[in-house]
Amino acid sequence: MTIAIDIAARYQQLKSEVSALAHAYYVQDDPKVSDAVYDGLFRELQGLEAAHPHLVEADSPTQRVGGAPVSYLEPVKHSAPMLSIDNAMDAEATAKFVREAAAELGISEVDIAFTREPKYDGASCGLRYVKGMFAQAITRGDGETGEDVTAQVRTIQAVPMRLSRDFTGEIRGEVMMTKKDLARLQDTQRAAGDRVSPNARNAAAGSLRTLDPKVTASRRLTFFAYSMVDPETHGHVSQLDVLQDLRVLGFQVSDLAKKVVGLVAVLEAFAEVGSLRDSLPFDIDGVVFKLASFADQSALGWNSRTPRWARASKFPAEERPTRLEAIDIQVGRTGKLTPVAKLTPVFVGGVTVSSSTLHNEHQVNNIKRVRVGDTVIIRRAGDVIPELVGPVLELRPESAPVFKMPEHCPTCGSTVKFIPGSEEGMGEHYCTGGSTCADQRVYRLTHLGSRLCLDIEGLGENSVKDLIAAGLVLKASDLYRLDALKAAQLPGWGAVSAAKLVTGIAESVGRPLRRFLHALGIEGVGEGTSKRLALHFGNWAGVRAATEAELISIPDVGPITAASILAAFQDEHFGPEIDLLASMVKPADEAKVSGGPLAGKVVVVTGTLPTLSREDAKALVESLGGKASDSVSKKTFAVVAGENAGSKLDKAKDLNVPVQDEAWLLAMRG
Ligand code: IVH
Repeated sequence: MTIAIDIAARYQQLKSEVSALAHAYYVQDDPKVSDAVYDGLFRELQGLEAAHPHLVEADSPTQRVGGAPVSYLEPVKHSAPMLSIDNAMDAEATAKFVREAAAELGISEVDIAFTREPKYDGASCGLRYVKGMFAQAITRGDGETGEDVTAQVRTIQAVPMRLSRDFTGEIRGEVMMTKKDLARLQDTQRAAGDRVSPNARNAAAGSLRTLDPKVTASRRLTFFAYSMVDPETHGHVSQLDVLQDLRVLGFQVSDLAKKVVGLVAVLEAFAEVGSLRDSLPFDIDGVVFKLASFADQSALGWNSRTPRWARASKFPAEERPTRLEAIDIQVGRTGKLTPVAKLTPVFVGGVTVSSSTLHNEHQVNNIKRVRVGDTVIIRRAGDVIPELVGPVLELRPESAPVFKMPEHCPTCGSTVKFIPGSEEGMGEHYCTGGSTCADQRVYRLTHLGSRLCLDIEGLGENSVKDLIAAGLVLKASDLYRLDALKAAQLPGWGAVSAAKLVTGIAESVGRPLRRFLHALGIEGVGEGTSKRLALHFGNWAGVRAATEAELISIPDVGPITAASILAAFQDEHFGPEIDLLASMVKPADEAKVSGGPLAGKVVVVTGTLPTLSREDAKALVESLGGKASDSVSKKTFAVVAGENAGSKLDKAKDLNVPVQDEAWLLAMRG
């Protein structure tokens, strides 16, 4: 009896000692003992748990090694939406934000108070605690619904499993990978011939969302806390209170977080972080300023998806020179020719850039004005796609030729046709080879198999290229007669890949009509138009027999799209192929909603509704025959507004558009 009590007591003592040492090391960055001493205590704890498994508790530091893999990440609805912050692209925009906030609050610009925090460049995550114990971790997802990553987050040493008091609520912050750990991961990936993570944000998000928590554990992620859901209910009146309390609770909060008062101090505080950026152990992509007091925050309120009381001030874009080695031509699914700049690889803004799209001939010669051989400037701002800014004219070689689109398709040799755009001098070049052009064929088939279309597992760009090269598949309908034995003989394939593809193809039979229509790749018929057509006609026979007048009567379908649909159906090659494909895919009918109480009406959903998520509310609008839109105009039939509806609600009022609530929408179902 006494022995049992002694062991249990020793267990508790050891567990809290090891936890406290880990906290000092991982959260406070202030190791208290040598690694050897820590390891010794950790092993003693492990030994005790192995001998007395009934003692093991969830908050033991030994439980961070990563449990069994999960089969998928369960979706979880957020208790409060996880929204984003508007950017201020430079110091001037930051100053404007400060001045406007001061004016609106009636405070002088020397007295207005903010917190300054780094803008952590990782993956945001919500952590739920019940009575001080870690209970659940959820990724941001689309802001309304995230994914359960509890098992993965348990392995992050900087996330406390037990808080310093009985806190019940949600903490939000950013899961991060340090620059050092990213470099280590990239080395391992390179050595293994795996895809190399491009930056710390991708690596952090990927490591968090893996199905195997042991992988997360091996990545040594860290966590910085920056907010608390419903801070007032926890007795806080300012963001600084919250940050201080987060530290007390046991979280890591950046030392760069502090209160700043007045415009001048804000701008200095921004510049200061900019000068420290490179020396920080982790990536940041700006500075977040939040109005300090929650009373001031509420006074300014929210736009539809962003607080009006906060800004993310971004560091200036990084620019680097490199050489334009060549301009390649890419042939897309529709035959459009796109010039692509091939560059001497250059490291800018945290990524290596070796190519950049130039869109079309007009863009090359009249907008960017670049020539092969030029020294060009590449710019990358924050997380946006790197951009070719323009040439350094002083360095242009005399022989540099003006770019000209080829007259024949570089892939199939067919004549290239220029289709003028709506504005003078603009327009696009197209290969006229249609499905005889190998590139068009590849991208058409890849599109057909893509996730939003027929979603055929195993049919990616590489497998399509192999199938076409071997002559096994020339057009989409050939897929449905694919000989698995022949596919298995393709170089690098084998019976398993072939069987997987054939199963994937078989599973695509009976996909909903809208996906089939999207898969056809008809110009102008994307995801949205496919859906409208499917809902209007209900079945394939209806779509096939549509007249021009009927097509034009559908919202979103104009004369150009109608003509493009009819031309595809009537084309001597494509028409019969479409019919053959339809007979093989047998697209499933959809509930026809040409009528419905909201037929032809545009409805905007905004704010947080009491029971429906934004997506569900929009789907309901569509199922009632209406069109769910994101912007309010005079044509809007109604705005369905929930809590924190911002500018869209204001606009509805300005334009005299009726404002309704969720109950109104639900009642429409009849
Ligand atoms: S507060 C309503 N503070 O940036 C906004 N977010 O653009 C609440 N982020 O998804 C977020 N550092 O992942 C806040 N110090 C910071 C942040 C921060 C990075 C991320 C966060 C959010 C995104 C917002």
